[in-house]
Amino acid sequence: MKNIDWKNLVFGYVKTDYNIRCYFKDGKWGSLEVSTSEMIDLHMAATCLHYGQEAFEGMKAYRGKDNKVRLFRWEENWRRLENSANGVLMQPVPKEIFEEACRKAVELNQEYIPPYGTGGSLYLRPLLIGSGPKVGVSPADEYLFLVFVTPVGPYFKEGFKPVKMQVIRDYDRAAPLGTGSIKVGGNYAASLRAGQRAHQEGYATAIFADAKTKQYIDEAGPANFFGIKDGKYITPDSESILPSITNMSLRELAADMGLVVERRHVALDELATFEEAGACGTAAVISPIGMIQDRDTGKVYEYSKDGNAGPWCQKLYARLTGIQYGEVEDTFGWCTVLF
Ligand code: PLP
Ligand code: COI
Repeated sequence: MKNIDWKNLVFGYVKTDYNIRCYFKDGKWGSLEVSTSEMIDLHMAATCLHYGQEAFEGMKAYRGKDNKVRLFRWEENWRRLENSANGVLMQPVPKEIFEEACRKAVELNQEYIPPYGTGGSLYLRPLLIGSGPKVGVSPADEYLFLVFVTPVGPYFKEGFKPVKMQVIRDYDRAAPLGTGSIKVGGNYAASLRAGQRAHQEGYATAIFADAKTKQYIDEAGPANFFGIKDGKYITPDSESILPSITNMSLRELAADMGLVVERRHVALDELATFEEAGACGTAAVISPIGMIQDRDTGKVYEYSKDGNAGPWCQKLYARLTGIQYGEVEDTFGWCTVLF
C-alpha cells in the first residue's frame, strides 16, 4: 500500500506505476503492452490533435469491506466507448482487449487502490485516440488505446454535501444531432467556458439547457441530472446528453426501492416542483443539489433546508455505494470481482 493521504484525496491526477497500451496498425490490433511512462510518443499530424478523433471512458474500482476489489459495470463502459468510436469514425476496441487492459491496469497498480472506509476509489481512464497522420479531414489509419488509473476522492469538493448549480442558456456543450451522446473530448472543450464561469460565480458546475429550444434540462456539466418528487425519480431524456451508467443504475435502484421512474423531457420550469435534485456520474457519484439558480431569470430553487442531502438521495447513495464497496448484496450483478 502506497503512502498516500487517502482521506484527503481529491479528483485529480496521482501518478501510478503502470499503464496499459494497445496499438491498431496495418488493419489489426496488436498485443497489450505494459508501460511505466506517463508520456506517449505521438505523430504531430495525428488526427486526435487536429480533428478530434478522441474518446474516453471513466470507471472505478473499489476496495470492498471484504478487501476484494470490484469493478463496476465495465461492459457498459466498453459498449459506450464502442459507440463513441463509431461516432467519430475510430477503430472500436474489441471487448476482450478492453477487459484485459482494465484488469491489468488495476492489478498492476493495486497498491494505489484506496483502502476501504476512506471513501476513495481507483479511477480508470480508458482512452482511444487517432494516432495516425492525416492532413485532409478524414479518419486515421492507426489508433492507440490506453488505460491509466489514478486514485481519486470526490469530484465536487463538497463530497456528499449539497452543492449549488447554475442553469445557463448562453453556452451549449453539444448540438442536438452532434456528439453530445458520446464521450468525446470536444464536448468537454465546449463546456469549459461555462464551467469556469460557474466556478467563478460560486457554483459547482453549470446545468445546460437543451441547445435547440432552451426549454428543457440537458445535463449538469460532467454528470446527468435527476429530480425527485411525488414518489418519482425523473431524469431528462435528450439526444444531446451522455447516457450515464450511474443514472442507468440509479433508475434501476429507484424502481427497486418503490419510486416510479420517468425518463422524459424535463422542462426548466419543473425545477420549481422537485423535492430533491441531484447530479450523478462515475466521478460525481450522487452529488446532491442544494440550490439551483437560473442565471437568466434570477430564479432560485432550493432543495435542502438543513444543509444535508434529502432522504431519497441518501437512500440511493447508500444502496449504490453499498453495492460498489461490497457492503450490500449486488442483486443486479453489476460488480466484477477482480481479485
Ligand atoms: N455526463 C457527462 C457529460 C459525463 O462526462 C459523465 C461522466 O462520465 C456523465 C454524464 C456520467 O456518466 P457515467 O455515470 O457513465 O459516469
Ligand atoms: C466521469 O464521471 O467518469 C467523467 O468522465 C466525468 C468527468 C471527470 C469528465
